[in-house]
Amino acid sequence: MRAEDVLAEAVRMSVGAVDDGVQVVTTSLCAEPLAVEKHRLLAVLINLVRNARQAVASLPIERRTVRVAVEKPVAGRLRIAVIDEGVGIAAERLQSIFKAGASTKSGGQGLGLHGCANSLAEMGGRLFAASAGVGRGATFCVELPMAAAVAAGTST
Ligand SMILES: Nc1ncnc2c1ncn2[C@@H]1O[C@H](COP(=O)(O)OP(=O)(O)OP(=O)(O)O)[C@@H](O)[C@H]1O
Ligand SMILES: [Mg+2]
Repeated sequence: MRAEDVLAEAVRMSVGAVDDGVQVVTTSLCAEPLAVEKHRLLAVLINLVRNARQAVASLPIERRTVRVAVEKPVAGRLRIAVIDEGVGIAAERLQSIFKAGASTKSGGQGLGLHGCANSLAEMGGRLFAASAGVGRGATFCVELPMAAAVAAGTST
């Protein structure tokens, strides 16, 4: 399973019923095959890309861009960053957004990030968020051990 294939699928599946005009740009510097459960990583990435799309949805169309970057693995760990320049997150909320029910959206359940963080923890990875503040975009970073599921034998 290649990172760029999972990414492409996640981007496709993050598209909603209504065209949001968001351009998602993906890059991958990881050539090695990933050994994590595909559907789990896919679910995480779909959630993060969806959140990023929603975060930029109110920007002028030319700024409605989300970037997803798979970095080159370092010391057996892989990082995938989902970067937007949307509504941003206040410093005091950077931890609490991972709690179940922490939604600021009408109709939002606030379960996305909670599920992502739990799922990654089970895979031996983690999820963290950075933002320069409200109105200044956000970056969500997924970190995963390259060989996470080799031992579990669940590579697809
Ligand atoms: N890219 C982002 N930029 C700014 N805020 C974000 C971003 N991603 C998440 N958040 C904040 O974190 C909250 C929790 O996100 P989470 O994905 O868990 O729930 P949700 O998107 O509100 O609802 P859902 O359960 O449908 O995913 C959001 O309501 C929003 O306030
Ligand atoms: Mg969400």
